[in-house]
Amino acid sequence: MADYDLVVAGGTVVTPADMFQADVGVVGEKIAAIGLGLRGERTLDAHGLLVMPGGVDSHCHIEQLQAGGGADEESFISGSTSALAGGTTSVITFSTQFKGHDILQPLAEYRRRAAKAMVDYSFHQIITDPTDDVIFNQVPQVVASGVRSLKVFLTYDPLHLDDRQFIRVLAAARRAGALVTVHCENYEAIRWRSAALLADRRTAPKYHAWSRPSMVEREAAHRAIALAEMVDQPIQIFHVSCPEVAEEIARAKARGLKVWGETCPQYFVLSENDMDRPGFEGAKFMCSPAPRDAAAHEGLWRMIRDNVLDVVSSDHSGWSYETPVGKRVHGTAAAFNEIPNGVPGLGSRLPILFSEGVSKARFNACDFVRLTATNPARLFGLYPRKGTIAPGSDADLVLWNPDQSVKITNRLMQHVIDYTPYEGLDVVGWPTCTIRRGEVVMQDGIVQAEAGSGRFLPRAPYDQIKPTGNLPFGFDASAFLV
Ligand code: URP
Ligand code: ZN
Ligand code: ZN
Repeated sequence: MADYDLVVAGGTVVTPADMFQADVGVVGEKIAAIGLGLRGERTLDAHGLLVMPGGVDSHCHIEQLQAGGGADEESFISGSTSALAGGTTSVITFSTQFKGHDILQPLAEYRRRAAKAMVDYSFHQIITDPTDDVIFNQVPQVVASGVRSLKVFLTYDPLHLDDRQFIRVLAAARRAGALVTVHCENYEAIRWRSAALLADRRTAPKYHAWSRPSMVEREAAHRAIALAEMVDQPIQIFHVSCPEVAEEIARAKARGLKVWGETCPQYFVLSENDMDRPGFEGAKFMCSPAPRDAAAHEGLWRMIRDNVLDVVSSDHSGWSYETPVGKRVHGTAAAFNEIPNGVPGLGSRLPILFSEGVSKARFNACDFVRLTATNPARLFGLYPRKGTIAPGSDADLVLWNPDQSVKITNRLMQHVIDYTPYEGLDVVGWPTCTIRRGEVVMQDGIVQAEAGSGRFLPRAPYDQIKPTGNLPFGFDASAFLV
């Protein structure tokens, strides 16, 4: 008689703390046991493979609603397919607010669309127009519905918040019990430099990087941290592109602040030189903050090793290259400031980080699990349901061949976007099987999961979002609805 519905047998189990030879026994949707000689109704042979928690991608833009109607090209079906092909089983995507509108109605529409997902999912709520009604009535409702993180932009027209608006969002999050995630770049500095570049007829994609050098990001990160410290509100700085920004996070952590840092594979393997490829090709590599240079790559690896950066997400934000609705929406003669920002990366996140990190001996497989699954789950209130291999956790597993050499191609990414910025990149280490809540949903690159089989993950209050209690003069200004 079998004790388990499924046993993943003979692999090397990797948790954030340890690596050891064991079988993983699954009953229904949950991990039931980790041990030796487990017997299952069905057995998956994992000899020679790593058995890791399914990836948690805590920052990806999928089917995000657009101001003019419609949504991002990457749908919940194609996005799920790419995620599962790449070993990711849970995602956090974005419900957005449009200026002049509320946040409840788009969230309802977004939930309706997300119901087609095949990965498990949660949302961050973007706030672009913090009116009294949004701040005092709607944010508490959204957070109570389980959407326990907000995102704000300190740059981008028409999304950016000024300091007063940002402070109001921090205070609303403190009252409701949510994490605030921040896109850190200085709006006015970028506008000023962009105007000068355009006046000098420097319009090509490479000038995207010139318009937003690292100090623009560093200044905004410093400001975001200082204002969060004043409100005593935990934050996560998104998509850190260079060590100078991470240094701001290191200083905040050293002061005991609840400030966490996220970076993405593009900031390790792409550079400003990619945006200088011939013709319009550079547009394929444009994202914000901009990819930097080799020195920044090395500095970021150091910041990963020193635990300053906590999370590696994809910031998947796909815009096809050949179609008229993607990177070319304003034609191939468009100036850099008219080209949509963002690069796809749902399917490539884990292979690139494993290859560059583990295979190149920059860190070990436990660190890889911590950065790509455990920390994102912990920091966004999904742990221990997600992000680890332990009895009682969801049986989300990825079986990984650490020795398989693969050349990345767009076909392998299985997303809807018509290119990958990593075309031709050689990686060592590749997912061979993905299991989501006990179900094999990808085997040897073939994704088989029913549309709608993904689940919404409501997030309850959790430790990381509790304020520290250290307030300037002991005065809690956020207790007043101002
Ligand atoms: O360029 C990027 N990162 N696009 C996606 C939106 C964002 O800022 O996260
Ligand atoms: Zn951002
Ligand atoms: Zn993003």
